[in-house]
Amino acid sequence: MSTSPRTTRGVLVVVGQGYVGLPLAMRAVEVGWSVVGFDVDTARVKLLEAGESPVEDVPDGALRAALDDGSYLPTTDPARLEGFDVAVISVPTPLAEGSPDLSHIEAAARVLAPALRTGATVVLESTTYPGTTEELVQPILEEGSGLVAGTGFHLGYSPERIDPGNPEFRFENTPKVVSGVDADSLAAVTAFYDGLVSQTVPVSSPREAELTKLLENTFRHVNIALVNELAMYAHDLGIDVWEAIDAASTKPFGYQRFTPGPGVGGHCLPIDPSYLSWRVRQSLGVPFRFVELANDVNDHMPDYVVRRLAAALNRRGLAVNGQRVLLLGLAYKRNTGDARESPSRRIADLLVEQGAEVLVSDPHVDDRHLPTGVRRVDATPEVAEGCTAVVLLVDHDGFDLDAIAARAPYLLDTRHRVAGPGVEHL
Ligand SMILES: NC(=O)c1ccc[n+]([C@@H]2O[C@H](COP(=O)([O-])OP(=O)(O)OC[C@H]3O[C@@H](n4cnc5c(N)ncnc54)[C@H](O)[C@@H]3O)[C@@H](O)[C@H]2O)c1
Repeated sequence: MSTSPRTTRGVLVVVGQGYVGLPLAMRAVEVGWSVVGFDVDTARVKLLEAGESPVEDVPDGALRAALDDGSYLPTTDPARLEGFDVAVISVPTPLAEGSPDLSHIEAAARVLAPALRTGATVVLESTTYPGTTEELVQPILEEGSGLVAGTGFHLGYSPERIDPGNPEFRFENTPKVVSGVDADSLAAVTAFYDGLVSQTVPVSSPREAELTKLLENTFRHVNIALVNELAMYAHDLGIDVWEAIDAASTKPFGYQRFTPGPGVGGHCLPIDPSYLSWRVRQSLGVPFRFVELANDVNDHMPDYVVRRLAAALNRRGLAVNGQRVLLLGLAYKRNTGDARESPSRRIADLLVEQGAEVLVSDPHVDDRHLPTGVRRVDATPEVAEGCTAVVLLVDHDGFDLDAIAARAPYLLDTRHRVAGPGVEHL
């Protein structure tokens, strides 16, 4: 990269080159930063070096152009971080036995600290509980650099709102909440993101910014749980919940549409709200009841889907055991290949356990994410016809759902996308 003749805004380090870090790195390249994409995963960095994007929203072409003109350097070498102007931390924040696992953030801060110089800016983007930036990241950076946050370097938090597969709201046109540990830090963090996105939204401290992200995801999580629970009761009461949702959605104020489904997945909804409830319980000694209830409802949706399928088979005098069942969609979200925490996996596992012959189809998810004991197929109408039942779990655009529904002997549609004599909705 040092040989590049191009003048740049400065050197940006992005720690973690995943769903969040890589799109950020590419956007920064686009607006003139020299970007070092640091990751501990050697295989991922090799892939990036070869110009193969592991993130669907980042095309190989953009990655290759950035590699070719020297504006993007993927690396596992901490020595390449020396003297950065801005560093963004976008590493995973999973749960370990139900509690926040901040080990990746801690490791990222430790690797950045010795490379930190006076006047540089560090921003945490990983989703986490309020207090992490000031209580965890700040002391590690200060100790490792000998500098003081605020006077020596700038520090802030800015949550990521990336929505993989959303063609309308991309990184650059989604407003970005920004914060700093003091006024200078806020100014530095805001100036950095003003160069990348169309709108920044400053809040008064990292805690409010950290809470903003958890509020957004908890809001979705709770509302999805609400319609999921409603869908189960409405079915038992013989009421069409989907029609009620459509009707309620015509209200132009005070209502936001959420729809039932087979459960929640991905890296956000099944995990982030628990960061909030953990913090509330740990600091205040009380449960965050909404989060715990939503976890309970959403976690049980895969079992409910299997129960509904079993009941449908039972009505035809059949057991799950021995039936050939086609599952449409393994990803946690339509038109993406991200299968992390996907409810489809749990449904596949339950059906395999009960002795079904499980076929799965997903044009986006690669073989590494196939559950054990299932067979991958193309979702053709002929394949659907050869199964006892089809379960529509993810409504990818690539599925010809009408043709499949027309031939499937029975189809349980968890997304309310198709109709027909053999179709039942969640
Ligand atoms: N994926 C989303 O849609 C999304 C949206 C908003 C926020 N977030 C949050 O952003 C954070 C990152 O999520 P993601 O989806 O990009 O994860 P990811 O798993 O796709 O990518 C994280 C990357 O960080 C790397 N990594 C782990 N430890 C590291 C370390 N110490 N140093 C350098 N690299 C390290 C991993 O190898 C991986 O490549 C999480 O906190 C997540 O909750 C994700």
